[in-house]
Amino acid sequence: MYRTHTCGELRLSDAGKKVTLAGWVQKSRKLGGMTFIDLRDRYGITQLVVEADADHALVETAGGLGREYVIQAVGEVVERASKNPKMPTGDIEIRLESINVLNKSVTPPFTIEEVSDGGEDLRAKYRYLDLRRPPLQRALALRHRLAHEVRNYLDSQGFMEIETPYLIKSTPEGARDFVVPSRMNPGTFYALPQSPQTFKQLLMVAGYDRYFQIVRCFRDEDLRADRQPEFTQIDCEMSFVEQEDVLNTFEGMMRTMFRNALGVEIPDPLPRMSWYDAMDNYGSDKPDIRFGMTIKDISSAVKGCGFSVFDSAEYVGAIAVPGCAEYTRKQLDELTEWVKRPQVGAKGLVYVKLNPDGSVKSSVDKFYSPEKLHEIAAECGARNGDLLLVLCGPKRKTQTQLGVLRIEMGNRLGLRDPHVFAPLWIVDFPLLEWSEEDGRFYAMHHPFTAPKPEHEKLFYSDRKEDLEQVCANAYDFVLNGTELGGGSIRIHDAAMQSRMFDVLGISKEDAEYKFGFIINAFKFGAPPHGGLAFGFDRVCALFGGQETIRDYIAFPKNNQGRDVMIDSPSKIDQSQMDELFLASTWKGE
Ligand code: AMO
Repeated sequence: MYRTHTCGELRLSDAGKKVTLAGWVQKSRKLGGMTFIDLRDRYGITQLVVEADADHALVETAGGLGREYVIQAVGEVVERASKNPKMPTGDIEIRLESINVLNKSVTPPFTIEEVSDGGEDLRAKYRYLDLRRPPLQRALALRHRLAHEVRNYLDSQGFMEIETPYLIKSTPEGARDFVVPSRMNPGTFYALPQSPQTFKQLLMVAGYDRYFQIVRCFRDEDLRADRQPEFTQIDCEMSFVEQEDVLNTFEGMMRTMFRNALGVEIPDPLPRMSWYDAMDNYGSDKPDIRFGMTIKDISSAVKGCGFSVFDSAEYVGAIAVPGCAEYTRKQLDELTEWVKRPQVGAKGLVYVKLNPDGSVKSSVDKFYSPEKLHEIAAECGARNGDLLLVLCGPKRKTQTQLGVLRIEMGNRLGLRDPHVFAPLWIVDFPLLEWSEEDGRFYAMHHPFTAPKPEHEKLFYSDRKEDLEQVCANAYDFVLNGTELGGGSIRIHDAAMQSRMFDVLGISKEDAEYKFGFIINAFKFGAPPHGGLAFGFDRVCALFGGQETIRDYIAFPKNNQGRDVMIDSPSKIDQSQMDELFLASTWKGE
């Protein structure tokens, strides 16, 4: 037996026991002839001690241990003279009788401790060493736990886990596909699924009325802290359901996950907000409702006072930032530059300071009397001591900018505690989104989402204005300003699905080529169905109090979509290219 206990297990009540531990040497130090060794495994750290008067060979071996050596150590559990209350095993140490070096290690490129001295790139290159660190081990343990909770809950609700293929057909809508050349079918390509959307719908046609899968999805899109090219979904679909059934089922799943993994109770029922309210009040379809500072439409209050910028704007909106009236000129200038950055895209920023003494100061004093400014401030629910920040322009664009500014101010004021959880559903999304650039509609969720039954007539209208009004039974699960999941009630009628492709400007031939299989399947008795998918990596990260998903994935890609540990993507041999009938036109290095 390699070990009798793990390195996180022994307590004072074990004193006197003879034990064998195995693990990695985190560090060893000499103190007055004694050698102290911190031995680590994924369960914790235990201090080992070799007394000054111990067997000479043992003292020698202990003195020769380097960082990350793998050892097996035998000794007796004894009470420590100087206890370490910060460590679960801090009351004891192991007085060693023998050490067996199982493997040596070269000096690791960074310290493998709670906080490492290694930079991000270096740690990515040696990911297997980084994964030895407690924060990453906690992250992966949380991920495991959550996956377990998901499977338990969905199994208890009668869901079946069914796998769907990874080599499928390219149907780019939304993100770009990753494609894979087929050797056996020269000149043709598979695509890796962006999600199992069509397959889960086909499973509904096949009668598997409650499906789920914890499944890898692939999207060739620009990466961010909460986006990876390959990521994992908790993908679900149900037949014979309405929106209410889907929301209740998955609210239950999230409630169970919060309760069992974090001991947190979330509201029952969860709040729901329409997409329109979310945009109007939070400037985002994924509002962070942990704090107020909501957006107010002050268009009518500010127009007609001679300030042409506001007079000519479609929309003027404001947020009241609590307690920031004392912002200095410099701070306001910095904030103005901040909103002008391309990531926000505002043209400028107007402020109104409501000083604690009741006076007002604003960048548009010339056009607005103090009384008028007070009136505007009151409309925004601002109080003395608050700072009003105002943006103007096209309505949705300006609301979105105010939404970004709101989040920034929330961060600056410390209102976004990652250990406070405020989940909600966003419902009643528009079905379609017009793209000025492309002169066509795009599906706001995806082309399989059904219009609300009461909007079906509008959906068959040929007028753009009518189509813009059509709402879908689509819903997103939002937590703390992040979209954790989304789904919809689907189209299950072949004619309606064809109409959808029509509205999206997809020709009959193209629809047939790309989606013929599903249109055809719908002709064979497709049940009413709907579902959703959660981004599992995001769920894990947010539950762990982080926004970056990378630490919750064992082997993630960097921002360039590279795995620097295995050095991928990489070139392939000419013979492999030939076999696949591929030629590269890439002229770079
Ligand atoms: P959607 O595209 O909204 O819906 O994706 C569902 C959830 O997956 C997560 N997600 C991502 N996570 C990490 N990296 C990415 N690149 C990434 N892209 C998406 C998000 C998102 O909410 N088939 C539909 C679902 C359905 O209708 O049932 C779908 O894929 O958390």
